[in-house]
Amino acid sequence: MNQVLKEEVQGTATILDRTEKSYKKLYLESYGCQMNFSDSEIVASILDKHGYQTTRNFEESNLILLNTCSIREKAESTVRNRLKSFNALKKNNPSLIIGILGCMAERMKESLLEEEKLVDLVVGPDAYRDLPRLLVEVEDGHKSVNVLLSREETYADISPVRLDNNGVSAFISIMRGCDNMCSFCVVPFTRGRERSRNPLSIVAEAKELYKNGYREVTLLGQNVDSYRWNVNKKGEIINNENPTTDFAELLEMVAHVDPNLRIRFSTSHPKDMTDKVLHTMQKYKNICNYIHLPVQSGSSAVLKKMNRGYTREWYLGRIDAIKRIIPGCAISTDIITGFCGETDHEHKETISLMNKVKFDFAYMFFYSERPKTLAQRKFEDDIPLETKKARLQEVIDIQREHSLESNKRQIGNVVEVLVEGPSKKSNDFYCGRNSENTMIVFPKENVKKGDYIFVRIKDCTAATLKGEIVLS
Ligand code: 5AD
Ligand code: SF4
Repeated sequence: MNQVLKEEVQGTATILDRTEKSYKKLYLESYGCQMNFSDSEIVASILDKHGYQTTRNFEESNLILLNTCSIREKAESTVRNRLKSFNALKKNNPSLIIGILGCMAERMKESLLEEEKLVDLVVGPDAYRDLPRLLVEVEDGHKSVNVLLSREETYADISPVRLDNNGVSAFISIMRGCDNMCSFCVVPFTRGRERSRNPLSIVAEAKELYKNGYREVTLLGQNVDSYRWNVNKKGEIINNENPTTDFAELLEMVAHVDPNLRIRFSTSHPKDMTDKVLHTMQKYKNICNYIHLPVQSGSSAVLKKMNRGYTREWYLGRIDAIKRIIPGCAISTDIITGFCGETDHEHKETISLMNKVKFDFAYMFFYSERPKTLAQRKFEDDIPLETKKARLQEVIDIQREHSLESNKRQIGNVVEVLVEGPSKKSNDFYCGRNSENTMIVFPKENVKKGDYIFVRIKDCTAATLKGEIVLS
């Protein structure tokens, strides 16, 4: 067994010198939402203190961790296929430890060990602090599981190790879990009850990032609009001696870190998004003009079955508020086609809502039934797969037109861009985003990552704007 880990477990923590030979290699792969990518940075930080250094090459690793997603069946099958690709490696190196983290670990628990023989370790999203102890168990020859959910864990004190990022934008997790119980969604079961993180620790993390050269942070939560500190669910103050903080106030606190630090956030919920948040966005130039506001369906009847807590009219009212308070604000959404019992008319209502709002961008999915969810227990998954897919294709085609229209409107404009680095396609080009979150590609010239520059838009596709740097 690794001596350092053993000592840690026995209570005599040893700080490892990075140059010591006993440093082990961790290969960490993340799937699914931004929250998982952010969690992986917490996992890397916890394990860094326990003798594991990350590597991009799984062949040289001692520990492979897959941070998984359960949101749709496809996400789980991707992980199972990925596991197969480690078969030969494990055969050649039996001491290699393979672990499953995240939502699939939480959903499947011990059964993952039975179904996937390669797996040694199963750890849910609230149990990452226990990883060092669990690894000792595995090294001692036992398979290990911790899927306990917590009402308090926010990992607020853990300073994430930034992985695979561009050094310009980073995620900050502001809350965990979800109390909404949308009927299609597995997240409340895999990520547990909603809890918010201390705002001072969030601001401190943003300041540290800025100091280290980052120029953009995305505040992450399953439903950021229900962020609350020192207030319980009934709206009562928990500790009279301390201030309370809601999401609008948190945004304002982070906006004050530095005018050159851009702030984004995800995800907003239409039933909870207040005008106070919109006014705060409008007040601070460094809070980006972009809101991701998942609608899921344009039909009030479907929304009711989805348990979303709003109607089509309410959603359109929120869109009007955004357009009124923050003119020019980009809006994106999530749409699910073929939910249980969705009629042709209800599907057309989604299309009509899309035509009314003209989203700048959308993530679109066909409904995938998830075990234990309200929908799985209450409704029949009765829309044939071909219909779900045909409806999805229709929605995708319309969205592509809307995205293209939205981008075409930018041609001729000069927009401010935060430079992220070389573009994916060519080293002669650089890329970055405008406040509205559209990717912009431009000839490199004399700029570097983290610079704010002005670009005149000359051309576009549905996904990208192309332009030339304008000297300011
Ligand atoms: N099937 C299809 N899409 C889903 N989403 C969540 N659960 C499901 C499901 N069971 C989508 C929703 C959500 C996004 C993150 O994933 O649109 O907003
Ligand atoms: Fe799932 Fe709804 Fe919570 Fe989003 S708000 S994570 S869709 S339950």
